[in-house]
Amino acid sequence: MKTEVVIIGGGPSGLLLSQLLNRANVSTVILERATRARVLSRIRAGVLEPGTVQMLHEAGVDERLKREGLEHNGCFLTDDDLMVQINFRQLTGKSVTVYGQTEVTADLYTAQDEMGANIVHEVEDVAIQSLDQTSSSVEYTVKGERKRIDCAYVAGCDGFHGVSRKTIPAAKRREFERVYPFGWLGILSQTPPANEELIYANSSRGFALASMRNKNLSRYYVQVPLSDEPDAWSDDRFWQELRSRLPAETADALVTGPSIEKSIAPLRSFASEPLRWGNLFLVGDAAHIVPPTGAKGLNLAVSDVFYLHQALIDALKRDNNAGIDAYSERALARIWKAMRFSWQMTNMLHQFDGEDSFAARMRKATLSHLAQSETARRELAENYIGLPF
Ligand code: APR
Ligand code: PHB
Repeated sequence: MKTEVVIIGGGPSGLLLSQLLNRANVSTVILERATRARVLSRIRAGVLEPGTVQMLHEAGVDERLKREGLEHNGCFLTDDDLMVQINFRQLTGKSVTVYGQTEVTADLYTAQDEMGANIVHEVEDVAIQSLDQTSSSVEYTVKGERKRIDCAYVAGCDGFHGVSRKTIPAAKRREFERVYPFGWLGILSQTPPANEELIYANSSRGFALASMRNKNLSRYYVQVPLSDEPDAWSDDRFWQELRSRLPAETADALVTGPSIEKSIAPLRSFASEPLRWGNLFLVGDAAHIVPPTGAKGLNLAVSDVFYLHQALIDALKRDNNAGIDAYSERALARIWKAMRFSWQMTNMLHQFDGEDSFAARMRKATLSHLAQSETARRELAENYIGLPF
């Protein structure tokens, strides 16, 4: 088989890249390890930057998003004494859209099906070859049969645990990592959201986040030690802990119900450089991970796709390699700023085990400064709604 771009991984990065390339008449094959049902069962964050919404529009996959997405003009940051509103609309003229990543992924699958896209599920042992030659190839096994696709380029969209990044020789890669000493215990519940806007709470009992998916579906998180198991958290225990971390008024009005999903996610900042190795380009979680505190994971994957789809179209259709030559540097420039924001939000809002009393005062002072200074709020808002591509 032969195609122009082999895309490894059928998560949001791989699907969006394929969709944009197919619309420009670039042929693709997506190789995905999991079944489609499995990919669509993953629950991830749900805040889309305006730039992400625009990209989904350009990809022709925003019909349901326009109907069901919730426009959010701001969010709240709180501690035990203060509640600070960050009004994105007033501070930046822009807003974010709450719409689950799972829904984005489902919409992309539907759109790719309509285009007759080539998506192979349940592939095993993907191996990328001849990356330094004029053309490359990817081998994989499906239903016990070994297959091979020849291609001009390979897009590594296979997430943090994928094979693409590891195909780049270790000596040619630089990795940067910060692992945080806690996780987020998250639940989904069929209850109305605690508040119209998201609340990021830094309480003396640790961090909590009140988020949502729609008018009757809420998403909540509490910071927990990494040693905790979800089973140790009954619904009652979760709701009690959440209440103790939210502002009193919100906690009093909180509507609780059975949890639909309950899991613990570790928090990590990670980046691997460069993003290009010969004909291979890394995209999204394959190249970088951010803690969820700034809601940047999916949005960052989309800005990578923005740079890369243009670059590949220029290379394949216009014989112009300037975009692919600049991809790594351009994408990393934006990635590092989102890494910084996510790290800063994480430090500002969480309790670190064994920290001194000074650390808690620094968090309090940061929030107090945000309450007083429009400049500080604007800086946060500008990052939250997303830096320009
Ligand atoms: N071969 C084929 N597919 C693979 C392989 C492999 N060796 N390894 C992983 N995959 C698939 C996974 O099954 C998954 O469906 O690659 C896909 C990667 O998807 P994600 O992990 O969702 O990564 P990405 O598409 O970059 O999405 C960006 O934004 O909010 C964040 O982490 C969140 O997933 C989100 C990300
Ligand atoms: C979510 O709704 O799952 C969510 C929202 C904002 C975040 C992280 C997760 O920062």
